[in-house]
Amino acid sequence: MSKITVIGAGNVGATAAQRAAEKELAEQVVLVDILEGIPQGKALDMWETAPIELYDSRVIGANSYEETAGSDVIIMTAGLARKPGMSRDDLLKKNTEIVHNCISAAAKQSPNAVIIVVSNPLDAMTYVALKASGFPTERVFGMAGVLDTARYRSFIAEALNVSVRDVAALVLGGHGDTMVPLPRYTMVGGIPLPQLMPAEQIEAIVDRTRKGGAEIVGLLKTGSAYYAPSAAAVEMAASVMRNQKRVLPCAAWLTGEYGLKDLYMGVPLKIGKGGAEQVLELELNAEEQKLFDGSVAAVRKNIGEVEAILNAM
Ligand code: APR
Repeated sequence: MSKITVIGAGNVGATAAQRAAEKELAEQVVLVDILEGIPQGKALDMWETAPIELYDSRVIGANSYEETAGSDVIIMTAGLARKPGMSRDDLLKKNTEIVHNCISAAAKQSPNAVIIVVSNPLDAMTYVALKASGFPTERVFGMAGVLDTARYRSFIAEALNVSVRDVAALVLGGHGDTMVPLPRYTMVGGIPLPQLMPAEQIEAIVDRTRKGGAEIVGLLKTGSAYYAPSAAAVEMAASVMRNQKRVLPCAAWLTGEYGLKDLYMGVPLKIGKGGAEQVLELELNAEEQKLFDGSVAAVRKNIGEVEAILNAM
């Protein structure tokens, strides 16, 4: 039986489970959370939606991992949001523990799964999932670039009054602040963006994209984005489940590509049944390379911090 497990039945996780079921990506979708009743209640509500939206994916909720056994894909969304008074380091420690515990338990039940990490801080949590699972690097990667590019593409489509379908784009690097947008490689109906938009307008869109997560938090006040993040994770899961070989910007483990190794970095990744099949490389100019190097430094720092937390656990 094909199966997708979503860990965390909060906003991102529940919405991801709903999207996966509606697309019938697997025969079973299992939603897991530490809270009793929440994953079961949300899963039942989704299953009761099936006769209306017409899907046969069976959604079930659980508080333990036996029900997740034999999953093809695990989408990791559990984690805490920063609370008032909580330092970044406190949050990093807490989420490292959560991701470590959840992934250790889930990986034992599904030794052949592909893990897609969504929990933040993304690059660091993807590394924690790699260590906790013991899986080969091609079966653990993170969702960030698909979301960042979706935001960027939506702003460009709006500004040019064209279909989102015709805006193809790529961002490299870490998630958010250290993202490296590449307007030269952004195409609108096959035309490079700099031929269609003045540089200042592109810069404003890039800036808004970098702060895209904060813009949503500022509006919602009590939570962070989840419609686009869940859609992004499910697009990646679809490429695994359907062996689509999509080329999507993801946090992938580098083994010499871009002259780097032993870290997760946002790069174009070909995703198929076995997970990460190939990191695609592209040429960067001096300015793009400088931004990319800044992103590398930020990600290395985060990975160093979680490494220390993991060693102390
Ligand atoms: N095991 C399982 N579930 C857990 C655990 C745990 N050890 N710890 C926390 N959770 C669950 C919470 O009970 C909650 O239901 O994780 C869920 C998180 O949901 P939300 O607070 O709604 O957060 P959400 O908006 O879904 O974001 C989740 O995704 O985009 C990222 O930055 C975001 O790291 C955050 C994650």
